[in-house]
This record gives sequence, structure tokens and C-alpha cells, in this order.
Amino acid sequence: MQAIKDELDRRAIQIMRDNDRGGYTIPTHGLYPYQWNWDSAFAALGFAAFDPARAWRELEILYSGQWMDGMVPHILFHRPDPGYFPGPDVWQCRGPLPSSGITQPPVSLSFARRLYEANPAMGAVPVRMLFDPMRRWVQWFMAWRQHEGAICIAHPWESGRDNAADWDKAMAAIDPHDVGHYVRRDLDHVHAAMRPTKDDYDRYIWLVQRGRRLGWHAPSMAVDQPFFVADPTMTFTLMRGVRDLIWLGEQQGLPTASLWNDLQMLEQGAETLWNPEIGAYDSKNALDGAFSGTLSNASFLAWYGGIDRPDLAETLMQVLRPLPYGVPSLALQDERFDPKRYWRGPVWGVLNMLVGMGLEDFGYPQGPALRQMTGRLIASHGFAEYFDPRDGAPAGGGSFTWTAAVWLAWAGVDVQLA
Ligand code: SER
Repeated sequence: MQAIKDELDRRAIQIMRDNDRGGYTIPTHGLYPYQWNWDSAFAALGFAAFDPARAWRELEILYSGQWMDGMVPHILFHRPDPGYFPGPDVWQCRGPLPSSGITQPPVSLSFARRLYEANPAMGAVPVRMLFDPMRRWVQWFMAWRQHEGAICIAHPWESGRDNAADWDKAMAAIDPHDVGHYVRRDLDHVHAAMRPTKDDYDRYIWLVQRGRRLGWHAPSMAVDQPFFVADPTMTFTLMRGVRDLIWLGEQQGLPTASLWNDLQMLEQGAETLWNPEIGAYDSKNALDGAFSGTLSNASFLAWYGGIDRPDLAETLMQVLRPLPYGVPSLALQDERFDPKRYWRGPVWGVLNMLVGMGLEDFGYPQGPALRQMTGRLIASHGFAEYFDPRDGAPAGGGSFTWTAAVWLAWAGVDVQLA
């Protein structure tokens, strides 16, 4: 058993090294050839298991792409790569590095705390360096992505859950007839049945074209938003991020007053996302106030954000009961469930980890159970991007950085293999 675990550790470390591009890490070769924001944060956690200095370097490079207005972009295009669309020529952004014009869930705020706690002596300098950039990113969210205290996305890619059923109704309101011709590159790498549809992609690209027309200028983008949906992923990851940033600030004697106000507002905002009809947190269209009616894996991030709801645990039990490997990106009972299609059914190691960490914090037995399920999933089906939640069949890209990182930082730590 120990030999199997050692071999899995070795493979995970090898994936991290193979995807390392010299200070930053790509999610996987081919499909995602640049630095993605939240993938990179998970990469830092993975590196922390065997090379803590390299872990901090990952975050420093991520924040080196921060825009003047405080946003930290969702992709940094360090080196050109024709295998990805849409590249920097399509986005046409003006940050310090070539980048996309939107953001992603701010898990790096919290993972910085984990790196620091593992080695405070090594972490003191990077924390002092990153604290203000991190605080400015929080301010950016509160200024430009906040609605009634909850955090919204202005593009499905911002949530990281690109084609989640959460966005279906809000996306249907966009008419992309003038999007023009473009060539997808993702389908060169992964079967179309595992990726978003053309209807989705037309709208993704249409939203990019709109942002580009407006020069990615946040105040202009805020006027007549065609897509603005409050998202549990963003709300709860920012909520935990703010808590952890306050903690880091207090450790280092840095100013935290504004962050306390942000936290209070986020706590109020989170409750606007509770949908009694599904017994869970839900996405809510900020433009018309309608819930999406979707039980996703993000519905269960409340504990990660620091909120305990025993009634949410009951809903989670129902979602988990028929499945062996953790929280699906869409509940099996939902008629839109599609076990292989990206965020419309598959189980993701990263979301299992965030949900599981929150449950562990509050002492729920489902937390350690989720950790074991995720460990067994990876041990028996490899380091894929995502997995069929019914039988664990690997799907999407292979040799994936964040799945390797989830193994090294959480799921593989005390895994009990049969
Ligand atoms: N996940 C998106 C893609 O598939 C971008 O963030 O390209």
C-alpha cells in the first residue's frame, strides 16, 4: 500500500515539474498552455508539498500580472502559443503582461495563508510583498463585481465553471448573431462531447468582443451589463479569502480595517444566494433577481466560506448518496445532468477539495469522507482534468496540474487505499 502511495506521489510531483514553465505552471500541455489564475493557486499548494520557495514564486508571478485597477487576470499569456483560442490578440488587454480581461475565483488569497502557516519564516517576506496587491484585488471585486453583497461574474469563464447549468438562463438572453467567424482550438485536444457547446462558445466570444470594444474599462463595462450573475463560487472563495487575508495582516501587523467591512458585506450577500426551493446556495441573475435553480458543487462551498448550515448538509447527503467519488458539478437528479461534459455533471478534484476542507473545518464527517473518495478517485483513475461522477472514468485533459496538486496537498495525504 505504501509503495502505491509513494508511486502516486512521485507521479504527481512529475506532473507538476513537467507543467512548470520556469516560475509559473500551465494547467496541462496542449489544451491550456498559459498561466491560469486559480489553477496557478492550486499549483502553489502542490509545490508547497515538496518545494515551498517555488510555491511562493508561483503566486508572485501570478500577481505580477495585476492590472492598475486591482484585477488579477484569469489568464497570463507569458509566451505566444497558437494552440489556444482566444489568445492575447483577441483579448487586446493593457495590463503589465499580456492577459485576458476577466478574473477568476480568488483562492490564492487563502492558499497564501496555507503556505505561510506551513513555514512562517519563509512566508514573511512574500506576505508583506503580496498583501497590498491582494487587498487591492479584494477592493476591485467589491467595486466592480458586487451585487447586494454577493459576488457576480461578468463572463462564465470568471467562475471557472464555464458551462455550468447555473448560467443557462442568463446566457440565453444574449444574442450572439454578430459574433463572426472564429476557430475553436480546444476541440483539437479534447472530444467535443466533453467540452462546452457551440452555443456556449458563441456567447463566450461575443462577451470577449464586447469587453474589447469597451477597452476592458471597468466603469464602462458596468453600464448595460449583458451578463451579470451572482455566483456561490466567487462569493464563498472571496469570503474565505478575506478572512485569511485578515489573518495574514494581523500576523504581520498590516492594515485590515477595510477588509472587516468587506467581510461583513459578503456575509450578508451570501444569504441572498440561499434558494429554499433547492435547499442550498444557488446562482442568481443580478439583472432580474432570478435563481438558476441549480444544485452544483459550488452550492456546497458555504463551509469553505466560513458559514455553517446543517440543512445544507442534508441536501449534500442526498446529492452524494448515489455517487462514489464526491460532489458532481450538477446533481444526478437534474435533467440537464451530462456525466462527461465539463461542468455539467463531472466531478472535479478541486471542488471536492474546497467543499471537503470547509466540512472538515466544521467537523462534519463528510469532510474526511470526501477526502478519501477523492484520494481513491485519483489513485484508480489518474490525474485527469475531471471525471465521470458515476464510475470515475477520466475526462477532459490529462496530466493535470491541479489534480496533481489536490493529491499532494489534500487527497493523497492520508489516503487509505484498499
Ligand atoms: N476554461 C476556459 C477555456 O476552456 C478559459 O478559462 O479555455
